[in-house]
Amino acid sequence: MANLLSQKSVFKTYNRQDWQKGYQSQPNEYEYWIDEIEGEIPSQLQGTLFRNGPGLLDIHGTPIQHPFDGDGMVCAITFQEGRAYFRNRFVRTEAYVKEQQAGEIIYRGVFGTQKPGGWLNNAFDFKLKNIANTNVIYWGDKLLALWEAAEPHRLDPHTLETIGIDYLDGILEPGDDFSAHPHIDPNCKMDGGEPCLVNFSIKVGLSSTITIYEFNPQGKLLRRHAHSIPGFSFIHDFAITPNYCIFFQNPVSFNPLPFALGLRGAGECVKYQPDRPTKIVLIPRTHPYKGVKILETNSGFVFHHANAFESGEEIYIDSICYDSLPEVEANTSYKDVDFEALSPGQLWRFTLNLKEEKVEKRLIDTRCCEFPSIHPDRVGKNYRYVFFSAAHNATGNAPQQAIVKLDWKTEESDLWSFAPKGYVSEPIFVPKPDASNEDEGWVLTMVYDASLHRSILAILDGQYLSGGPIAQLHLSHHIPYGLHGSWSSQCFAEKI
Ligand code: CO
Repeated sequence: MANLLSQKSVFKTYNRQDWQKGYQSQPNEYEYWIDEIEGEIPSQLQGTLFRNGPGLLDIHGTPIQHPFDGDGMVCAITFQEGRAYFRNRFVRTEAYVKEQQAGEIIYRGVFGTQKPGGWLNNAFDFKLKNIANTNVIYWGDKLLALWEAAEPHRLDPHTLETIGIDYLDGILEPGDDFSAHPHIDPNCKMDGGEPCLVNFSIKVGLSSTITIYEFNPQGKLLRRHAHSIPGFSFIHDFAITPNYCIFFQNPVSFNPLPFALGLRGAGECVKYQPDRPTKIVLIPRTHPYKGVKILETNSGFVFHHANAFESGEEIYIDSICYDSLPEVEANTSYKDVDFEALSPGQLWRFTLNLKEEKVEKRLIDTRCCEFPSIHPDRVGKNYRYVFFSAAHNATGNAPQQAIVKLDWKTEESDLWSFAPKGYVSEPIFVPKPDASNEDEGWVLTMVYDASLHRSILAILDGQYLSGGPIAQLHLSHHIPYGLHGSWSSQCFAEKI
């Protein structure tokens, strides 16, 4: 038996202890020119990669219950004339400042982190911690750290210092939320082909109200409209086409009682309902915003969509689907997750026929994947390539160690794996200036290097992932596994 077990472990591309180390807190803030570089930074790569994610997985030694409850820490890597400058800063949310001063957990987290003192000390405390940890975007001359259940925090793009909660020039009210998954329409037909940023907020109860916001490049509100849809919603991401915002209303129920009683976090009270269909909600983007359509399918649980586009009567939407929602179990550590026992996220293509109100779906790739990314000019349009993070092996569930590119035309994949010691994060595709092909550009991803307990910013060639990184920029420390980020072509160089 021992022999069998050891044989099995040989075939694993990862080591659980290695993977767990990527969830150690990084309490320090750094700024420096990166000088340990393998390969060469392309001189044409000019701009700033912003990343966000949980920087603290404990508060003064007390572990938090789930990484989604971790305080937001933003990294910026500025590329300029073949060099790269690194910076990271915690978002000084009210909760971060107070907990660091107090030296203990004083807020409940959505995903189960509780204050000390048991349920009596947590019951009927609905004051959630706005942790600003999910995404970071530069739009309308503002750098915004986003968390979907509350208002954005504005940061100084040069220094990453926190300016404060931002109400988007009075568009948001205190207590409003603003999703962490805005999408940029690269050529909005309503605005003479100018880009616009589309985002949503959602208020949930027995029914859900989705509000759509569209902003011009200066950050001014162009359009806002709200829609009530039946049922509770747990919606993290959406997709846009020129005419629609598309949401997958996952089949979940919410029992708030254990949360109210202080027994569990709000996120732990969401229950996946496998027997119920997913509702695909299509909200028109064009005036008068009437005629919301709801189609039904069985998609499993969806966090992220890669893209959507219209083609005649049909709309295509490409999404990463799980057979079920991995439930956050109380009193067990996320670090002890049994990968093999959970269903992997997989890429599916859904074809929506609006006239016949029919949905067809097709599994595209069995490989366990997450964090899809595409060419920014192809958002909402027919497109050829999608990049995502993925497991090393083609089947089964495992940590993300590889970056994959799928070609929709040939349905072939190209891949680079950082296994056995590297653990990747979301890839971001940055087009080359004056590129003529959709995949002509660089794929940037932060990799946790377990062999050194440090992180690497890897630059891959979008046309040849399997050729390996063009450059690997070794940070002098690690960055815990992050969530989302974005690219800005601005260097924010004047204060470097
Ligand atoms: Co997300």
